Amino acid sequence: MAGSRSALINVMVRAAEKAARTLVRDFGEVEQLQVSKKGPADFVSSADLAAEKAIRTELAKARPDFGWLMEESGKGGAANARSRWIVDPLDGTTNFLHGVPHWSISIAAETDGAIVAGIVYDPIKNELFWAERGQGAFVNSKRLRVSGRRSLDVALIATGMPYKGRTSGPHYLAELDLVMAEVAGVRRFGSAALDLAYVAAGRYDAFWEYGLSPWDSAAGVLLVTEAGGFVSEVGGGNNPIYGSSILAANGDLGRPLREILRKASGKGPGASTAPKAVSG
Ligand code: IPD
Ligand code: CA
Ligand code: CA
Repeated sequence: MAGSRSALINVMVRAAEKAARTLVRDFGEVEQLQVSKKGPADFVSSADLAAEKAIRTELAKARPDFGWLMEESGKGGAANARSRWIVDPLDGTTNFLHGVPHWSISIAAETDGAIVAGIVYDPIKNELFWAERGQGAFVNSKRLRVSGRRSLDVALIATGMPYKGRTSGPHYLAELDLVMAEVAGVRRFGSAALDLAYVAAGRYDAFWEYGLSPWDSAAGVLLVTEAGGFVSEVGGGNNPIYGSSILAANGDLGRPLREILRKASGKGPGASTAPKAVSG
């Protein structure tokens, strides 16, 4: 029955809830650590590792025949497994580190190369986003649909901006500039898994980012497609989980947004169309 959780989803939810208990406790500590000289960075990276360990233990117990791809521990588990877990134990680490209550746990199940189930759990807001292939997408027990907005001028678009040590190529600022001029608003909330879940929920109308890893996007991509949305690479390629960029949107806005992003590719710093520096 649509809306009732399968055994597979329940396994994922149990693992996420276990990790959430330790993360929520640690998140409470972060505030105190903000004021200490050392800062909370080391503390947060061990919170991250502990959460992943809790997830791995729980998932391995329930499905010993699965392999895994996890942000902290990499690839492992059963050799030659047909199925594997793809896990980000804490998506939105920078928010967590700064005491900003917007982060999530992302778990996907992949079989023969296709994502068959995914959850994105936000324990602070008590929102469990989940989807199973062919069964639809849900938040808690409510069915999700992507938004029905058809025109960019009323659209709210999420993105992920490059940060220290990461660049998205010279044209990201040009892209942002062109998108900002056409839409109602652009948001950078700092958890790609939640960005995708919010597209599935119709809160955002679209999302684009470069350089994500499979653990950031695997569960979220299934949420969007099961909610009736569209996901591709920015340039149109159909490998958004393992490729180097992602564009997710409702069915109407994917194409016009891609057109805008494409226009920007000749307009980055250093491109021939960029304004020339005025000297003297
Ligand atoms: C990050 C978040 C962020 C995105 C980064 C990711 P992390 O994951 O999803 O929104 O912009 O590219 O690396 O490091 O917090 O797990
Ligand atoms: Ca992440
Ligand atoms: Ca992470």
